[in-house]
Amino acid sequence: MSDLQFKRHRRLRRTDSMRALVRETHLRKDDLIYPIFVVEGEQVKNEVASMPGVHQVSLDYLTEEMNELVNLGIRSVIVFGVPSEKDEVGSQAYHQEGIVQRAIRQIKEENPSLTVIADTCLCQYTDHGHCGIVRDGDIDNDESLNYLTQTAVTQAEAGADIIAPSNMMDGFVAAIRKGLDEAGFSNIPVMSYAVKYASAFYGPFRDAAHSSPQFGDRRAYQMDPSNRLEAIREAQSDVDEGADFLIVKPALAYLDVMREVKDRYNLPLVAYNVSGEYSMIKAAAQNGWVNEQEIVMEKLTSMKRAGADLIITYFAKDAANYLDQ
Ligand code: PBG
Repeated sequence: MSDLQFKRHRRLRRTDSMRALVRETHLRKDDLIYPIFVVEGEQVKNEVASMPGVHQVSLDYLTEEMNELVNLGIRSVIVFGVPSEKDEVGSQAYHQEGIVQRAIRQIKEENPSLTVIADTCLCQYTDHGHCGIVRDGDIDNDESLNYLTQTAVTQAEAGADIIAPSNMMDGFVAAIRKGLDEAGFSNIPVMSYAVKYASAFYGPFRDAAHSSPQFGDRRAYQMDPSNRLEAIREAQSDVDEGADFLIVKPALAYLDVMREVKDRYNLPLVAYNVSGEYSMIKAAAQNGWVNEQEIVMEKLTSMKRAGADLIITYFAKDAANYLDQ
């Protein structure tokens, strides 16, 4: 054996402290952004059937939900509204007293140190369930921009710290940036869902947010899962239009794309660990087929290793608990 030439990689794996010494990727609580679903009404705390542990909450329960996060050391949330009334143009999305605007105001009053991110889209608010305005059976890109901009401005007025447009209309970053600047919100950053695929992994979210399209699908505006170069074109436009953060979504099936975006652009990169990714792990763990804690930490770490600086995840509370152990 003594004449064999090889490297001894195992030297650096011998003990727990040695492994900690050479660990390259670290997950921190500050990396985590927790998504919340707010509904109208009172005393509502509905567990989403396909997302065990995730609830739709009414404003009176929002306080305890936020306090729980703060106690766990989570400092950022992204807010999704589930309005009780929908119409053709999604007017509850940009109403000053819309469910999201009220939720944002309440969170900022009660926990001003939390960073509140507003998801800016129309799909939960339109009766047809599409992310933009429908004209003759098609999503009208440029008309949609006006409604989305108005939505972003009312969210900023309510106190949102970051605007996160997820609708995949062309020019949405440029339109929203201009709208925010004109309304006096030049200091509010845009976290763009720059690279968003038309994905089956969003299924459970659509149950949680009641946002399934009532006809057709989202493939005419969300991206084809087969495409990599298109992701770079999408990210490039959003960088040029003034985005402050880039999101790649979903996360797990798109880690290659995440790495490419990270290597090309120097903006903070956000992984959206979406609903279907959450549900799959929860279901397998409930069956006793995988070790939930280990698998959650491994998956979140893989997103950071792929280049994500931040992770939007329904596992944020679990991960914060694990990090405390
Ligand atoms: C709204 C939006 C969606 C998600 C975030 N924002 C749904 C969709 O595009 O259909 C999905 C999030 C998740 O699955 O966790 N456009």
